[in-house]
Amino acid sequence: MTPMPATGADAEPLGEWSTVLAEVDGAGVALVTLNRPDKRNAMNPRLNEEMLDVLDAVEGDPRARVLVLTGAGDAFSAGMDLKEYFREVDAGGPIARIRSRRSSNEWQYRRLMFFPKPTIAMVNGWCFGGAFTPLVACDLAIAAEDAVFGLSEVNWGIPPGSVVSRALAEVMPARDALYLIMTGKTFTGTEAAAMRLVNEAVPRDRLRAHTFELAVHLAGMNQTVLESAKTGFKRARSMEWEVSEEYLYAKLDQSIANDPEHGREQGMRQFLDEKSFRPGLGPYSRA
Ligand code: COA
Repeated sequence: MTPMPATGADAEPLGEWSTVLAEVDGAGVALVTLNRPDKRNAMNPRLNEEMLDVLDAVEGDPRARVLVLTGAGDAFSAGMDLKEYFREVDAGGPIARIRSRRSSNEWQYRRLMFFPKPTIAMVNGWCFGGAFTPLVACDLAIAAEDAVFGLSEVNWGIPPGSVVSRALAEVMPARDALYLIMTGKTFTGTEAAAMRLVNEAVPRDRLRAHTFELAVHLAGMNQTVLESAKTGFKRARSMEWEVSEEYLYAKLDQSIANDPEHGREQGMRQFLDEKSFRPGLGPYSRA
């Protein structure tokens, strides 16, 4: 089954939220847009709560096969909201702080990092501080070449907040990460790609088409196998080899047992018996 090219033109809303837009198109691409452009999509407690609901909606909707995360206007996200997430929550005392941290971490890495569907961050502009956590939690990331990134926390008097440093250690070389963490200097999408913080950087006017092309490709693949493949990699990398062997075989067997379209059998039949495709060169036909 080859999905229609995603234009987003046929997109339908997945629900209604005050700080987030979420819609799904006919090709199965769910576009989730952080939507506080006047605040450069800074993440406040309300957005953090709403994102939990949005992730539930994307996860539970069978039309949604891939999640693309982006920001409205000229920002991906300016990080945590200094006024509403820090100053106002501080004023609420320690329990308010614990609750606020819990909901932000819950969506920004726990849910997003192990989201059962493929995820792509589409970095359209400003990306600072706390925004690095959902950026890294997404499986893949494409940035506009001129998007501006920064680990700006040291500039306003704190070390990187929450699990930002842990997130950076997941994807970036230590020398680059420490330089950026300690200087607070900005860098571009092109530089982010060179440091492997994002997969690639493309000219701004091609960002959406390029990201959707990748999303549509993933939407057309076997979803059970993709879930096992991405989760297996993310979980196994922190395991001992012996434990990872047990885990990855269990994950493989789970994938085969749970796959409603029996992709392994289809793939082998099409290659060995029908000789209709070559697995080395592309996916089997899901028609
Ligand atoms: N928290 C709270 N409010 C923020 C914000 C944040 N992280 N980032 C931007 N805003 C707000 C500004 O206060 C301003 O609000 P106002 O219109 O009510 O005054 C509005 O968004 C626009 O910001 P402005 O600075 O005028 O936009 P800009 O386009 O000139 O600059 C940035 C954009 C992203 C470079 C700049 O806003 C900035 O440095 N933001 C903070 C980035 C940061 O350090 N984040 C780390 C947080 S962990």
